[in-house]
Amino acid sequence: ARQIIIDTDPGQDDAVAILFALACPEAFDVLGLTCVAGNVPLDLTTRNARKICELAGRPDLAVFAGCDRPLGRALVTAEHVHGRSGLDGPDLPEPTMPLQDQHAVDFLIDTLRARPAGTVTLVPIGPLTNIATAFQRAPDIVARVQEIVLMGGAHAAHGNVTPAAEFNIHVDPEAAACVLASGVLLTLLPLDVTHQALVTPARNAAFRAIGTPVGEAVGALTGFYERYRPERHGADGAPLHDPCTIGWLLRPDLFTARHVNVEIETHSELTMGMTVVDWWAVTGRPANATFVHDINAQAFFDLLTERLARL
Ligand code: BDR
Ligand code: CA
Repeated sequence: ARQIIIDTDPGQDDAVAILFALACPEAFDVLGLTCVAGNVPLDLTTRNARKICELAGRPDLAVFAGCDRPLGRALVTAEHVHGRSGLDGPDLPEPTMPLQDQHAVDFLIDTLRARPAGTVTLVPIGPLTNIATAFQRAPDIVARVQEIVLMGGAHAAHGNVTPAAEFNIHVDPEAAACVLASGVLLTLLPLDVTHQALVTPARNAAFRAIGTPVGEAVGALTGFYERYRPERHGADGAPLHDPCTIGWLLRPDLFTARHVNVEIETHSELTMGMTVVDWWAVTGRPANATFVHDINAQAFFDLLTERLARL
């Protein structure tokens, strides 16, 4: 199984991504969850991550608290999407499993140094603050990362938090720029993909029909999320962003991607955090990322539902 660390700011869709990974032990050995401030402040993302571990029957999993704010900016949160708790929807008990004492950044550094080079994959599904901090503090670990598969960015899909930028990149553009420039093998699951991965009423019903506490919780998580569905998008469901990373790792054949140069805007007030994608290779800048742009959404939801039923 591939060894992964999920770097996360749960978040309903983060929660589903974590459950998805935990439901596939043959494919993933989850070494730990490193939490970051994003959708809600850090004290809530660490609490939500532990709630999800307990829901999955995995109180043994190591959950770490990381950076509580972006590298050089004030934190922007998204309670308007995720609710006050960050995990509004299901009625999950207060977690009793511990939060690790070690800082998430130290865990990332120690793990990458301790394991053989090229054997640990990072799956960031929130702002990239923890990853960038680890890279800046311990540059020797960069070459030891197997690959990074992250949810973030937008090209043809436009932004979601501003007209130009996607939330995870916008919250900490300097961190994103650091990761994009790192030279690590990189795959981006941007809004171009996730705005095709819509939780329609039928797909929500399929989660609930699993008939387990996990199925019920995922129904409630994605049902709450649905409330924010911006009608202006004219879509028939809310996008399920973060689980697309796990879907890509499991079944890349369900997606279409392009190897391109992606740079992050870190200066303009108007387009802060925009992913500038050199789609037609007009700049001569070397490709630094695999930019995924299409998904077989129904096959993805079938796979997700089937796997969640195992928990
Ligand atoms: C991303 O932002 C967050 O609100 C979601 O959890 C996802 O990671 C989508 O833009
Ligand atoms: Ca997230």
